[in-house]
Amino acid sequence: MISVFGGRFDDDEIKEVSDCIRSHWIGMGKRVEQFEQEFSATQGLSNFLMVDSGSNALYLAIKLLNLPPGSEIILPSFTWVSCAQAVLLNNCTPIFCDVDINTCNTTAEHIQKHITPKTAAIMVVHYAGLPVDMQPILSLGYPVIEDAAHAVDSFIGDKLCGSLGKVGIYSFDAVKNIAVGEGGGITFTDDTLLQQAKKLRYCGIEKSGFQNAQNKNTGRWWEYNISEPFIKMLPTDLSAAMGIAQLKKFKANQQRRKQIWDYYHTAFKNREEIQIPIDAVNHNTHSYFTYLIQAPKRDELAKYLYDKGIYTTLRYHPLHLNAIYNCHYKLANSEILNEKALNIPLHPNLSDTDVEYVANSIIVFFKTNK
Ligand SMILES: Cc1ncc(COP(=O)(O)O)c(C=O)c1O
Repeated sequence: MISVFGGRFDDDEIKEVSDCIRSHWIGMGKRVEQFEQEFSATQGLSNFLMVDSGSNALYLAIKLLNLPPGSEIILPSFTWVSCAQAVLLNNCTPIFCDVDINTCNTTAEHIQKHITPKTAAIMVVHYAGLPVDMQPILSLGYPVIEDAAHAVDSFIGDKLCGSLGKVGIYSFDAVKNIAVGEGGGITFTDDTLLQQAKKLRYCGIEKSGFQNAQNKNTGRWWEYNISEPFIKMLPTDLSAAMGIAQLKKFKANQQRRKQIWDYYHTAFKNREEIQIPIDAVNHNTHSYFTYLIQAPKRDELAKYLYDKGIYTTLRYHPLHLNAIYNCHYKLANSEILNEKALNIPLHPNLSDTDVEYVANSIIVFFKTNK
């Protein structure tokens, strides 16, 4: 089966992870620090911390905003469930807004429709790695959380997506552009938030075991202060070792993603049934995390491809349609995407033959299913 998402792993990962195991330090340690420094340097970030997942990074991001209970946070419905769960777990209320039907990103116009006196923050998602039009959203005057889970290597001018709002998050899960298994990151415009986040990610403790071990000269080095209650979301040196290896091939992987994206664009551009996704424009760049087409007969197409050994999916089932969130409103574009959109395979582990096979199978489906 050709998978829809995936990563490329080889001797680099085997070496870095083996070295980590041989060092007998697999928890959080110097490899996490190295990954934090190298990721920041590659992407031009000044305040960045690794955590154990993008989902937990979202939870931490909202916690850091220190919003009163019951505050409303406006976020797109067309996103991953962690976005809304992080809001609820911080005792705030998720208010879902729609996205633009072409970019799949939310806009200031969609957000504005949901502003109330209880609105306290806005969350945006750079879908697939296409940068959100941030300036009009920042101008609304609320703290902005950027979900840049898809948007490592997506830039708005020279600024990495995730670094324009108050706080931004990244995901390094098993299928992201930098894949470590499970992992995430968080970035801030404000230094004081970095110090607070460092404490919070380790149960609210001010010093980590790694720092203690390096600092044996200070009296009772095993004691610590607990500044506030919080969960543990430490990354490990094992996952950082994966990340260090992934960074070595990051440029090559990104180029491969773009090649595949361009191949699909050329193959589909004259097929009127297939609406192709939008690329970044002007001085912005795209991370090419996923390729989302919109087409009629989507369910039949997905089944046809599955039978031909091609796995596709839809990211995301709109959140406002999930009973748990108890929403009684329509979000027209998100609902259209729910019926017409399909993520097709895009990742650096696909061969040219795979990509041609995927594109041709889609074209043949529409030729025979007019
Ligand atoms: C838009 C978005 N936000 C957040 C996350 C959560 O990231 P993680 O899987 O690292 O917890 C994901 C994961 O797929 C995502 O797609």
